[in-house]
Amino acid sequence: MSEHILTEREGAVMIVRMNRPEKKNALTRAMYKTMAEVLTRADQDASVRSVLITGGHDCFTSGNDVADFLQAPPNGLNSEVFMFMQALFDFTKPVVAAVCGPAVGIGTTLLLHCDLVYASRDATLKMPFVSLGLCPEYGSSMILPQLVGQAKATELLLLGSAFSGEQAAAWGIANQALHDGAATTAKAFDMAQRFGSLPPTALADSKRLMRAPNREQLRKVIVEEGELFSQRLHSPEAREAMTAFMQRRKPDFSNL
Ligand code: COA
Repeated sequence: MSEHILTEREGAVMIVRMNRPEKKNALTRAMYKTMAEVLTRADQDASVRSVLITGGHDCFTSGNDVADFLQAPPNGLNSEVFMFMQALFDFTKPVVAAVCGPAVGIGTTLLLHCDLVYASRDATLKMPFVSLGLCPEYGSSMILPQLVGQAKATELLLLGSAFSGEQAAAWGIANQALHDGAATTAKAFDMAQRFGSLPPTALADSKRLMRAPNREQLRKVIVEEGELFSQRLHSPEAREAMTAFMQRRKPDFSNL
C-alpha cells in the first residue's frame, strides 16, 4: 500500500484520495498499484456503492511522476499504471471525480473514464503528451475527438493547450464547474452519495449499457496507445523533455 493514497469510507462511498502535496500529487508506481487494488476490492465489496476520486482542495494530480518516467519507465501492459487504467476501465460501479487545481496528463485522461466529474472553475487541465515527446494515452485519442470534436481535440492533444474547469464543463468533459475547491469536493461527494440509495444491479447494468458501444474498440486503442507510449518514453525527445522539466529549464529539441 502506498502511503500517498488515502482511503476512507463515508457510508456507501469509498473515497480515494491522492495525497502527495509536496509533489503536486504526482503518481508513482506504488500509488497506481494501490489505487488499482483499492478499486478492485471496492468492486467486489457489495457495501461500496460508488467511488469518489479526489486530490484534495488544491491539486488533483500533476500526472505521472516524471522522475519515475525517467528512472523506471512503465513496462507496457504489465505496468502498475496499466493495472490502474484497467481497474478503472472495468469498474462496474459509479465513479465520481472532484478536480481542483492542476490535473495534468493522466489527471485529465482518467476523467474520461469516470461517470461524473466536478471541477473547480479555476482547475487547470492539461494533456502535454506531445510536448513531452509522448503520445495520447488511456483512450484519449479516440474519446476526445468524439466528445469535443476534432478541431478542439487537436488543440488539447497535439498542442497540449491548458484549459480551465469552466471550459471542461462547457465542453462536456466535466458535469459542472464550481466556485472553489471545497464546493467542488462537497458537490462530488453529494453526487457519489446519491448512488447509494439506488438499486445496485440496475445501476451496474445501466452503466455497462451506456459504455457498451465502441467499448472493445476503445480497449484496443488503449493497448495500442500504451505500447506506443512505452516506446516513446525511451525516445531522445521524451528524455530531453523530461530531463528539462526536472532541471527546471526549457527543453531543446533543435538537434533531434
Ligand atoms: N513528476 C514529478 N515531480 C513533479 C511533478 C511530476 N509530474 N509535478 C510536480 N512535481 C514536483 C516539482 O518537481 C516540484 O518538486 P521540488 O519542489 O522538489 O522542486 C514540486 O512537485 C512542485 O512543483 P512545481 O512545478 O514547483 O509547482 P507549480 O505549482 O509551479 O506547478 C504543475 C504545478 C503541476 C503545473 C507543474 O509542476 C507541472 O507542470 N508538472 C509536470 C506535469 C507533467 O508534465 N506531468 C506528466 C504528464 S504525462
